[in-house]
Amino acid sequence: MKFVNREDEIKYLHNHFKSEPNSLLFLYGPKSSGKSTLLSKVVNEIDTKKYVVNFLDLREMLIYNFDSFIDRFFPKTLYGKVQDLADGITFNIGFFGINLKSDEKLLQQNPFKLMGDKLRSAKEKNKQPIIIIDEIQLLKNIYINGERYLLDELFNLFIRLTKVTHTAHIILATSDSYFIEEIYNSAKLMQTSEFYFIDHFNREEVYRWLTAEGFTQNEIENVWKNIGGSPWEIQQILQKITNGLSVKQACEFYINEKYGKISYYRSEILDYKTINEFDRINKNIVEKGAYIRNDNEKPLIISPLIKDMVTHDFWSIDLSDD
Ligand SMILES: Nc1ncnc2c1ncn2[C@@H]1O[C@H](COP(=O)(O)OP(=O)(O)O)[C@@H](O)[C@H]1O
Ligand SMILES: [Mg+2]
Repeated sequence: MKFVNREDEIKYLHNHFKSEPNSLLFLYGPKSSGKSTLLSKVVNEIDTKKYVVNFLDLREMLIYNFDSFIDRFFPKTLYGKVQDLADGITFNIGFFGINLKSDEKLLQQNPFKLMGDKLRSAKEKNKQPIIIIDEIQLLKNIYINGERYLLDELFNLFIRLTKVTHTAHIILATSDSYFIEEIYNSAKLMQTSEFYFIDHFNREEVYRWLTAEGFTQNEIENVWKNIGGSPWEIQQILQKITNGLSVKQACEFYINEKYGKISYYRSEILDYKTINEFDRINKNIVEKGAYIRNDNEKPLIISPLIKDMVTHDFWSIDLSDD
């Protein structure tokens, strides 16, 4: 796969890493807009003499309760290898390996303190730790001993590590814009976090990409009008073309598939009253590019329809003001 565009985003992330850790960073945006791809790209460019990177993709870690969280974040099988922070960049091998003799007790008593201690010890060795957790919303609904909410404890730790002690960069990525909306409306996180939106490509970026792929003006316009700027969907179109379809055929294939899904949802799932709201919002999206809520809807009470559409990735929420 050829990586294209994202110059501003790459610069933003490199600058973020250069500065002293001072706030939690939430990276959000519609599913398949390229958040994970961007993060991997930037992390692989990073100077491993200065930074240690711990990249966890929760989709691959199967965490369903607090015990599995502890097992995945502190893998004991790696005992001896990654007791502190491994050098360089690690993907999906947990936070730190656990030294069964010296750390096991603290792990049982207070895993959050253990995480903080380990990050501080890396920092003392003159390495700037970077923690990236992708699909953070997958920790939703996990409780510690049925009482405390795991994400609350983690966010408290992350706020301390960034804003208070400036120990580590913490990047949390999510495609779940309903989840990010909840975070955004929590006063505590709002004041301690940055939010960075990774959107689909805009028209100019699609043009740049497809011109380089040898598309004609007309073909690009066809893709932009019908598919839009989703990098994943454009990759699918490119794939179809490699397999022998024309641009027009590839676009038609996609439109039919999308149209099928949306009209099924409209006619089979929605009740008569909700269909009106559905049509009204879609009309706005088609005509103006987005549906803009008016100010007295904020802080939001999200309608069940919006929540559902966002959860199904038909729509996404953009929190930025402009
Ligand atoms: N900068 C890019 N250049 C080219 N293709 C991209 C780029 N970003 C994303 N893609 C394509 O989109 C797909 C989905 O991207 P991904 O990073 O998984 O999205 P997200 O993490 O936001 O859900 C990738 O597998 C890739 O095919
Ligand atoms: Mg992703």
